[in-house]
Amino acid sequence: MMSKKRKDDHIKFARKQKELENDFTKVRLIHHSVPSISVDDINLETSYFNRSFSYPFYINAMTGGNDEGNNINYRLATIASKYNIPFFVGSQSLAFKEKGVKEQYIALRKAFPHLFIVSNINPNFTLMMAKEAIDMLGANALAIHVNSIQEIVMKEGDRDFSKWLINIETIVKGVNVPVIIKEVGYGMHKVTLDALYKIGVKYIDISGTGGTNFTIIESERNKVKDSAFKDFGISTVESLMLAEDLKDVTIFASGGVRNGVNVVKSLCLGAKAVGMARFFLDIAYLEENEGYHKIDTLIDEIKKTMVLLNVKTPSELTTKFIFKSPLV
Ligand SMILES: Cc1cc2nc3c(=O)[nH]c(=O)nc-3n(C[C@H](O)[C@H](O)[C@H](O)COP(=O)(O)O)c2cc1C
Repeated sequence: MMSKKRKDDHIKFARKQKELENDFTKVRLIHHSVPSISVDDINLETSYFNRSFSYPFYINAMTGGNDEGNNINYRLATIASKYNIPFFVGSQSLAFKEKGVKEQYIALRKAFPHLFIVSNINPNFTLMMAKEAIDMLGANALAIHVNSIQEIVMKEGDRDFSKWLINIETIVKGVNVPVIIKEVGYGMHKVTLDALYKIGVKYIDISGTGGTNFTIIESERNKVKDSAFKDFGISTVESLMLAEDLKDVTIFASGGVRNGVNVVKSLCLGAKAVGMARFFLDIAYLEENEGYHKIDTLIDEIKKTMVLLNVKTPSELTTKFIFKSPLV
């Protein structure tokens, strides 16, 4: 059962979490020592979901439904509008359980009529509920989070997943917006990717380990010192490599992306665009200008990295820029 208290806890414990070293540091890019372009030549415009966005990154799903989450959503929606990037809201479960929450989502859309908003539901939802979640936001796309490890770790979490795949298939086939299946920071192996591909999923965010870690968050919430499940998960970099030969599916990356170099590495490893949750959560708590400065720095880092690769557009970024050392 989703509760407002749990939403508050997730924000609180996610913000406290220390950033650890992750697999992005193991990926080396092939730079050109004598590039032939200027930083000003770089155009970061990226198209997906039949729409053009100004940058190859988006604000990933986090919150809504609780008061703090609603305020954060307004901050994040303002940022997404300013930078012309997609905005993924957090799970809308509370809109189906608590009075007044649905109205918050309706008001959010009214305040940002042109924003590309992505709805967020869990795989227990019926088709009818999925449609209602989309409608209350006038959403441009729908994300379904598949968070089996988080549910297992959560004291009050789901224990029966037998309907998840069929529910996802029914929703993918029954709604008229693009549907993204996303992890929540645990990554995906081929077994998952293939199962999703077989039921007609066209958009996947592999959201891997290396960033926000919900096993630690749930342990802290429940005052448990150690979790038997702490080793579960596949990193963002590993998941992208495992997804490399999946055809006809647009892959998105998230999980531990904290700077522009990580963004470019993800794009080289096959991501169409990159999601960031923690990065934007921290920004939501900064002074407005300080927050914009952080995002501008991120954009600058992406452009500087691309100049080093001698590449002007995100669509040119491929695995040919990933260095495989002759020493290993
Ligand atoms: C406070 C918080 C709440 C989250 N809630 C949701 C959610 O409701 N639905 C969802 O799909 N993902 C949720 N996520 C997961 C993120 O969308 C993302 O997959 C994950 O945090 C990894 O990205 P990061 O390392 O950039 O934080 C949440 C993340 C955070 C930090």
